[in-house]
Amino acid sequence: MSLTAETFTFVADLVRRRSAIHLAPGKEYLVESRLMPLARRRGVSVDDYVRQQRVAPNLLDAELIVEALTTNETSWFRDALPFQALTEHMLPEAVAALPAGAPLRIWSAACSTGQEPYSIAMTVQEQLAASRRVEITATDLSGEVLAKAERGVYSQLEINRGLPVTFLVKHFTKQGAEWAIGDDVRSMVRFSKHNLLSPPPLGGPFDIVFLRNVLIYFDVDVKRDILRRLRMAMRRGGFLVLGAAETTVGVDDAWTRVQVGRSSIYQNSGSAA
Ligand SMILES: C[S@@+](CC[C@H](N)C(=O)[O-])C[C@H]1O[C@@H](n2cnc3c(N)ncnc32)[C@H](O)[C@@H]1O
Repeated sequence: MSLTAETFTFVADLVRRRSAIHLAPGKEYLVESRLMPLARRRGVSVDDYVRQQRVAPNLLDAELIVEALTTNETSWFRDALPFQALTEHMLPEAVAALPAGAPLRIWSAACSTGQEPYSIAMTVQEQLAASRRVEITATDLSGEVLAKAERGVYSQLEINRGLPVTFLVKHFTKQGAEWAIGDDVRSMVRFSKHNLLSPPPLGGPFDIVFLRNVLIYFDVDVKRDILRRLRMAMRRGGFLVLGAAETTVGVDDAWTRVQVGRSSIYQNSGSAA
């Protein structure tokens, strides 16, 4: 069984308009396998499910289709090096640069199921005095991943992906077969729905932004727009952390690449909030 060209074109166009994710020809199998559960729930084929949306579009199904095509892969302290750079460089520098009395503001954009912002929150707890005001905003396009992130409950398999045992013992409690993150960490993070194609969320101006493993899905014009808009939401001199396969170089040149140990981070040297 394979999708009709009409179905694929419609879905690729819908996903691109609503999320900027580019589904190149050849991804028919991905579209079919991701939409299959939605179609099954209605008792129809993927082609018929998409046809219904073409003939009588509705917002809920449009959102479900886009969410199904996002990749939500994440883990605790993913790639390790950015968290080392956070500890050794970004937190001390950003705190030193803060105007007196201002809170430190961190944004985890495209945060998926919460492992990234909670890893940031745990790092902050280790590194900064409890009296230091820190606000962590975490956003994603997908309501489904945000609901899981806000709940803060993870399977053993998810915990095994990168969470050091010291943090497990310190911050989590067992809940049946799962692990629930403690309120002390959970309450440090404010989650909200946000599309990177729209103006930045409330909670800025940000001193540190994690925007990892999402730009890879966009074409260069979309990346450029997002990086420009990001600068407007950040303090001048603020830090940006991208995924290991992502860079600002050749996309938006108002960032300065800074080498911290073995990781590259980017500093906002252009116009800022
Ligand atoms: C691969 S995950 C990355 C999660 C985390 N940043 C990390 O590196 O582990 C990519 C996330 O980007 C989100 N996403 C995709 N397009 C988006 C958009 N246009 N606006 C906001 N989030 C988006 C997806 O829902 C998904 O949760």
